[in-house]
Amino acid sequence: MFDSGVGGLTVLDECLAALPAEDFVYFGDTAWFPYGDKAPADIRRRSEEIAGWLTGQGVKLVVVACNTASAAALTWLQRRLEVPVLGVMAPEARAAVQASRTRRIGLLATEATVASGSYQRMIRANDAGARVTAVACPRLAPAIQRGEPWGEDLVEMVREYAGPLRAAGVDTAILGCTHYPVVERLIRRTLPGVTLIKSGEEIAREIGDTLRRKGLLRPGATEGRYRFACSGDPEAFRAVGSRFLQMPLGEVARVEPAAVAGSR
Ligand code: DGL
Repeated sequence: MFDSGVGGLTVLDECLAALPAEDFVYFGDTAWFPYGDKAPADIRRRSEEIAGWLTGQGVKLVVVACNTASAAALTWLQRRLEVPVLGVMAPEARAAVQASRTRRIGLLATEATVASGSYQRMIRANDAGARVTAVACPRLAPAIQRGEPWGEDLVEMVREYAGPLRAAGVDTAILGCTHYPVVERLIRRTLPGVTLIKSGEEIAREIGDTLRRKGLLRPGATEGRYRFACSGDPEAFRAVGSRFLQMPLGEVARVEPAAVAGSR
């Protein structure tokens, strides 16, 4: 599983609970964070290097636990890797369409994700008549990645980004960035009564179904292992990561996937 930083840990969190027997390796591309303001071609190249490192670890499935990388690189990776590759967008788009009664759906995501139009396309593939209000939130993931303490400025920021969704009267909103569930309570307050769709729960279900159908699900009640690697400072990753996961991370390895992929 990989993400641009620690946000994908919200996805891992759900997977650890839903698939306790599986082993996980998580890579956070903290040296390259954020992906949200990068060009799609650069995100694709970087995602391929990281996926190359992950498959080198012997994984049976790759999860792109980053909405921005899913939008830019999912199909690219699926064409190139031998193992199945799952992204966070399709399950969320489907869940949003299923949940919405008014068929007015909001999306909060990074600039790159909104600009790709991927969510909008996937939502319409599930319901051609759905109306989507998409808001790019360029400052939100970096503010969350910096970690606590959070102040009034974050509250204001969330209010500002949620404004167009309120104005559009959406009844369902996709938290289209893996960082956003960390401030879910804040978002919930600014969008009362709106159903929030988060990638973690949806993708955990999708991974379980995929592994089961392919006969790859690890049987038994034994507890699987998990480990972490990142491209930036491992100590900083551990500090923010353990707050995100609310559990110890153990040793965090520092890895530069470009160098590893290049030397294969
Ligand atoms: N993790 C990224 C995502 O889910 C958001 C942060 C970034 O800009 O890298 O879109």
